Amino acid sequence: MASTRRTFLAQAAAIAGTLGIGSRWNQAWSHPANWGSKPGPAKEGTAVMTSTWNHGMLANDAGFQALDEGGSALDMIEAGARLVEADAEGLSVGIGGLPDRDGHVTLDACIMDHLGDAGSVCFVQNVAHPISLARNVMDRTPHVMLAGAGAEQYARELGMPVTPLLTEQARLAWERWRETSNYQPVINIENHDTIGLLAMDDQGRLAGGCTTSGVAYKMHGRVGDSPIIGAGLYVDGAIGGATATGLGEAVMRTVGSFLVVELMRQGASAQEACFEAVQRIIRSMPTEDLQVGYLALGRDGQVGGHAIHGGFNYALHQRTSADTPIESALIDASHGEH
Ligand code: GLY
Repeated sequence: MASTRRTFLAQAAAIAGTLGIGSRWNQAWSHPANWGSKPGPAKEGTAVMTSTWNHGMLANDAGFQALDEGGSALDMIEAGARLVEADAEGLSVGIGGLPDRDGHVTLDACIMDHLGDAGSVCFVQNVAHPISLARNVMDRTPHVMLAGAGAEQYARELGMPVTPLLTEQARLAWERWRETSNYQPVINIENHDTIGLLAMDDQGRLAGGCTTSGVAYKMHGRVGDSPIIGAGLYVDGAIGGATATGLGEAVMRTVGSFLVVELMRQGASAQEACFEAVQRIIRSMPTEDLQVGYLALGRDGQVGGHAIHGGFNYALHQRTSADTPIESALIDASHGEH
């Protein structure tokens, strides 16, 4: 049955309450003895998709459309990511992405499924849909990760369009930046609104993806967390998935998404695990000038998100039974400094 999309932005708090998310962190959560029981099995007909930032709303729409056309959780992820990658107005993902300091748009992406299969591309140029290239690496090669010119060569072999990506908007922004060449990424914007996506289909299969143009005006050759399995994304089909947004260096140093999933394995809820992974960063390094947000989806459909600073949000679409239409919400996960 084709689903009817209903948007309940105003009911975000109610949905968040149903899922046990969005509440203020309770000090007791940080102690494993207080963590909840492990997630149970998914209920059939209760698909969930959650994606970082405002652009997650449209990504989730595309994901549920793919599901309703017979797709799997992996198809939901690829469809959602592709939609955002194709948006020339978005300055942090895909074809609209801001370039590095030398004016090159270099993209990173990865994808992972409930079986632990994973594919990734990093430092790839001239390919508009790195998420699809990553999926091909996963599905058709013996490797997990292809980089740079090799990834671009593989895109050519697959028959994908290979064309320069720097948009006029991004070029003008880069020209303005070059007047000072001051490397101070703006929190939540240049530092960094990557899209991370997590989905569970009606059969309880989990998948995740992550795609980004990386930090604006980075050094040429810099690769962030987003294509790194365990940093920007991790999925364990028996436990849940997690993804990260924000400054990749902080996520990589703490292997953040793997940490979130491992915390869930030990009994933390999705929300508790994201909180704890954020604390790991706060305990490890100065964080006044950097933002990181985590988003997690448990095997039981439970969702959580947390960030160092305010301003982080994520989109959540869910189907509560096989027959219900999709309910959508944009959740404020600004549990950081306010
Ligand atoms: N999280 C995206 C990046 O740091 O590149």
